[in-house]
Amino acid sequence: APSGPLVGKHVLVTSGPTHEPIDPVRYIANRSSGKQGHAIARAAAAAGARVTLVSGPVDLPDPTGVTMVRVESAREMLDAVEKALPAEIGIFAAAVADWRVANAGDQKLKKNAGALPDLKLTENPDILATIAHRNEGRPPLTIGFAAETENVIEHAKQKLAKKGCDLIVANDVSIGTGVMGGDSNTVHLVSASGVETWPTLSKTEVAQRLVERLGQMLKGA
Ligand code: C5P
Repeated sequence: APSGPLVGKHVLVTSGPTHEPIDPVRYIANRSSGKQGHAIARAAAAAGARVTLVSGPVDLPDPTGVTMVRVESAREMLDAVEKALPAEIGIFAAAVADWRVANAGDQKLKKNAGALPDLKLTENPDILATIAHRNEGRPPLTIGFAAETENVIEHAKQKLAKKGCDLIVANDVSIGTGVMGGDSNTVHLVSASGVETWPTLSKTEVAQRLVERLGQMLKGA
């Protein structure tokens, strides 16, 4: 029989980048590897939870014992998240593209004697903010991430308020930290009760500690 602090709980995790089509063969993407989000899904499953992992395109094996939903774009990710809810815990670790191409082509764009394609951008839905601001169907514990390159804590505090989540896991992803795509992470937990900085840990260890903490928060809530 399953055991662990999260037995009987449903944990929803988003992970990876999104791909926003320009035309059938091109897309806008970002450098997210999905390593941290996937590690969190694995840790939650190991803690006994039923886990749904909604992931953008990543080059990682599917974690075992987890329900995988693969998506490409931000809008597909939001749809998949809506379908997967309700959950006791929602962890929004995906690096969702802020913009998509409003006038994406049905056919491959062609070079045209030096004329440049007239791409128009439009804003993507903010998945975390959409879910966290809901009265009904909001996971009792809704967690966001903040990848910043400067003023990490300050930006995370603003994000906590703006997104309406219970906790922001903030990390410094500036060039030279090696966080993007790397195997370790230095995070700050920013919540209404303050800021807690963890030592540099492997992404697996960050995931395990985070899941342990969420188990305690769920009990206390
Ligand atoms: O605003 P920013 O992208 O820095 O916020 C990061 C947090 O918001 C992450 O938890 C990310 O998964 C979530 N997010 C989202 N949908 C977006 C943009 C960000 O869920 N369109």
